[in-house]
Parts: sequence; structure tokens; C-alpha cells
Amino acid sequence: MDKVALITGASGGLGQALAEKLQQDGWQLVLVSRDGQRLSDVYGAQHTQITQDCSTPEGVQQLFAQIEQQSIKVNALAHCVGNIRLGAMHRMAHEDFIACMQANLFSAYYTLAGFIQHNKQHQQAASAVLVSSAAARIGTPNHEAIAAAKGGLEAMLRGAAATYASANIRINAVAPGIMQTPASATLISSDLTRDIASKQYPIPGIGDPKQVADVMAWLLSAQAEKVTGQVWSIDGGFSAIRPIVK
Ligand SMILES: NC(=O)c1ccc[n+]([C@@H]2O[C@H](COP(=O)([O-])OP(=O)(O)OC[C@H]3O[C@@H](n4cnc5c(N)ncnc54)[C@H](OP(=O)(O)O)[C@@H]3O)[C@@H](O)[C@H]2O)c1
Repeated sequence: MDKVALITGASGGLGQALAEKLQQDGWQLVLVSRDGQRLSDVYGAQHTQITQDCSTPEGVQQLFAQIEQQSIKVNALAHCVGNIRLGAMHRMAHEDFIACMQANLFSAYYTLAGFIQHNKQHQQAASAVLVSSAAARIGTPNHEAIAAAKGGLEAMLRGAAATYASANIRINAVAPGIMQTPASATLISSDLTRDIASKQYPIPGIGDPKQVADVMAWLLSAQAEKVTGQVWSIDGGFSAIRPIVK
């Protein structure tokens, strides 16, 4: 079977790192962004490029209609759409909370549902990888909205992995700590804020999206054919260990 991967949020930092890695691994790529100009700025005329908004049911419906029209069968999904919306919950505006849920949880739900529908229709084995966050795994100040969205994403993927295991559709996620991408740029824009962010991690430093992309590529690969319903943390131990502070 051809290896054809759909990357959403493909113009973003993680999306670009993953596109590079999957291309090296021999995947054909279908790249999605809300902004077609950004896609062609980044990728030129390479790959199949589709302009749609994966945070709405209509956008996802159109996306898969365009994929079908081009007779493409995608058997891998890397859903890289999302943002980092921080703020204490008593001060967060309702609109900001909804926007956070839409970008991080609803987009994952709609896109995964569309991907599953596509693969069931073509009766093919498939694999999806979503992107959670360390904030879903351990209480982190001012991360209430993003924790709600990504915690929902993790619970959703386990449910979906159970539902579709018999159809040979695997669903996993990665949960990064802070990475150097446009989404985190304002959080680590000065030496001081960057240094403070780095020190929060047992293995200190700001993550490289290429390292996260490597794990995502493995989860999509045939080597991971027995892996489903899992969330792999890539956060310098932030959510799992508490070393002695010296
Ligand atoms: N960077 C970090 O420190 C960090 C840490 C933990 C988790 N994450 C997660 O990692 C994933 C990738 O993010 P990134 O760091 O690569 O950020 P990024 O460079 O900003 O890329 C994310 C992409 O998501 C799309 N997007 C954002 N908001 C959207 C919305 N409301 N509706 C539809 N699409 C939207 C954008 O694509 P278009 O504008 O092209 O459509 C954007 O390019 C996200 O799920 C993020 O939550 C990031």
C-alpha cells in the first residue's frame, strides 16, 4: 500500500518538522493550512497542498471531499493544529476559552472523525497521531484552558483507539513540553523568560520540534503496528519525575 500522510497545521513549526521527516521516510504528503499562501511560501510547489480550516466540521468535510476528488487515499494523519492559550481561568474571557477548545480539541475530534470515515470507506489500515501537551498530564499554573482541551484530546483518543482497533486504525499522541515554534514565540521572547521556561524541566531547555516529529513519525510507521491508545510524553521528565532540587 502507498504511504500517504495528511499533515494538518502543516505551515506551523511542528508541522514543518514532521513534513521534512515523513518525506525522508518515503511518505507522500497532503498538507493542510487555513492559509494557502503560507503553504506555498514554505513548500513551494512540493506535495499536495489544500487550504481548509480543520477546526470546523465544514472545513474538515471539504478537506476530505477535496482529497476524494483527487483520488488520494491517505492512510496516516498527523494533526498538528493547535495553539497555546494561557491565563488563569478566573480572568479568561469566554471567547478565549472557546477558541482554545476549538483549536486544540474540536479540531482534533473533527479531523480524526473525517480521517476514520475516509479509511473505513476505503477499507484500509491506518494510523493517526495527535498532539497533546505536558499541561494535560500535570497541573501547571495558568494552563487550565489548554489542559482542559488537551486532556479531552487524550481521553478522546483512547475511546477512538478502542472503537477502531478492529478496523486496524491506530490512534496515538505525543505530549510535548515547550518547543521552539511560532506558538511559543511570545512566551520565550526574552532571555529572561526563555531561561525561566527552560528551568521548569528536569532535563532543562526548550524542546526541538524535530525530536517530537521523530516520535510522531515512528508512531505512524509500521514499526509501531502494535501501539495504539498511547500518549508519549516528550517533556524532559516534567510530567513524570521530581528530581532532588539542589
Ligand atoms: N510549541 C509548544 O511549545 C507546544 C507545546 C506543547 C504542545 N504544543 C502543540 O503542538 C501543536 C503544534 O503547534 P506548534 O508549536 O507547531 O505551533 P504553530 O507553529 O503555531 O503551528 C500550529 C498550526 O495550527 C494551526 N492553527 C492554530 N490555531 C488554529 C485554529 N484556531 N484553527 C485552525 N488552525 C489553527 C495554524 O495553521 P494555519 O494558520 O496554517 O492554518 C498553525 O500553523 C499544537 O497542537 C500545540 O498545541 C506546542
